[in-house]
Amino acid sequence: MIKKKIVLTVGCRPDCIKLMPLVKEFKKRDSLEVILLSTGQHREMLDQVFDVFNEYPDYDLEIMKPGQSLFDITTNILNKIQVTMEEIKPDLVLVHGDTSTAFVTALACYYMQIPIGHVEAGLRTYNIYSPFPEEFNRQGIGLIAKYNFAPTKLAKQNLLNEGKDPKSIYVTGNTVIDAMKHTVVDDYHHSELDWVGSNKLIFITAHRRENLGEPMHNMFRAIRRVLDEHKDLKAVYPIHMNPLVRKAADEELGDCDRIHIIEPIEVFDCHNFEARSYLILTDSGGIQEEAPAYGVPVLVMRDTTERPEGVEAGTLKLVGTSEEVIYKEFSELLNNKEYYNKMAKAINPYGDGHACERIADILEEKEYEEWEN
Ligand code: UD1
Ligand code: UDP
Repeated sequence: MIKKKIVLTVGCRPDCIKLMPLVKEFKKRDSLEVILLSTGQHREMLDQVFDVFNEYPDYDLEIMKPGQSLFDITTNILNKIQVTMEEIKPDLVLVHGDTSTAFVTALACYYMQIPIGHVEAGLRTYNIYSPFPEEFNRQGIGLIAKYNFAPTKLAKQNLLNEGKDPKSIYVTGNTVIDAMKHTVVDDYHHSELDWVGSNKLIFITAHRRENLGEPMHNMFRAIRRVLDEHKDLKAVYPIHMNPLVRKAADEELGDCDRIHIIEPIEVFDCHNFEARSYLILTDSGGIQEEAPAYGVPVLVMRDTTERPEGVEAGTLKLVGTSEEVIYKEFSELLNNKEYYNKMAKAINPYGDGHACERIADILEEKEYEEWEN
């Protein structure tokens, strides 16, 4: 049987986490040949994901350098990817989400007239500066993609509104929900959770490019003020490897004894921490999809979100990056039990855990049913 040669492209932590369940599913399918290509936009944070899933790239462009700019990422991928694609000769290349790895790969494939499938298609803020440059990246891939795998109906509707061919759009759910079926366990232990003990766990992540500088200092100052006022809280913050994030966190939170700033944790640990949190403060995209499933309220430290389903359901709240607003909202959630309980309800607007099967069925040209969310 001639197999369909499919390249799955990863480069950063989130796209890798969300494509790994797809790699596993494709490997079960007789008619699909899987090739894993890493741009290496991230290094240690990507190696961590490869180790967890025990899947390693067949090709690695190894482009990461400390403090890389968007120009570095874009030109270094473009310079290296053409010869790799010429060698592989794929039938289809899958990219994920909104990273520069995804956009630049899609652009290169467009130049080479290789068809693209976009996993996690159709999320929109319609503000190309927020998130920056991710909103532009995601819209740009949408112009090129032959297959659009939209996680939700709303994402599909966005694509239809933009005039995409309805036959190219499939509602599949988000593949991260597939991965989450196996990650959270009852008998989970971690030394940081021992440190938290019977205190309330506040889980923090922050890394967005548009938040670097003053917005990030504001976020950290607000968190610091609340931690200083509430002696029953302990915060764990697995920090991104970006040196600018580390500098800001060290300046604002370095000497606070009720926050532990730790190295990035494995995704298995991350889901278990999220599930055990009292409250999460983040500017991450992916955590906005995961936390609602655990019924944990999330304050999203951004001005916009491309994931409004969780906001509509009441589990996520957009609080921006002003110190006063974050301080007020964080305090309110701690002081007002009724308000907290309203937000703390488990919902799953992003998938039913079968996204990967659906995508594989579509590529094998088998019957499949859209996810009815
Ligand atoms: C990238 C994505 C963003 C995604 C984020 C996930 C783009 C433009 N941005 O942003 O959408 O939310 O990944 O985490 O694609 N670094 C390391 N080791 C690593 C990873 C990063 O040292 O394993 C440091 C390097 O100094 C690097 C910096 O972090 O230069 C920033 O990495 P970069 O990929 O440019 O941007 P992110 O903010 O991670
Ligand atoms: N994550 C992780 N370890 C960490 C922090 C986050 O494994 O220390 C996971 C998290 O569970 C989610 C993904 O990384 O699946 C989100 O990635 P990130 O916040 O880096 O990027 P974004 O989703 O904002 O693009």
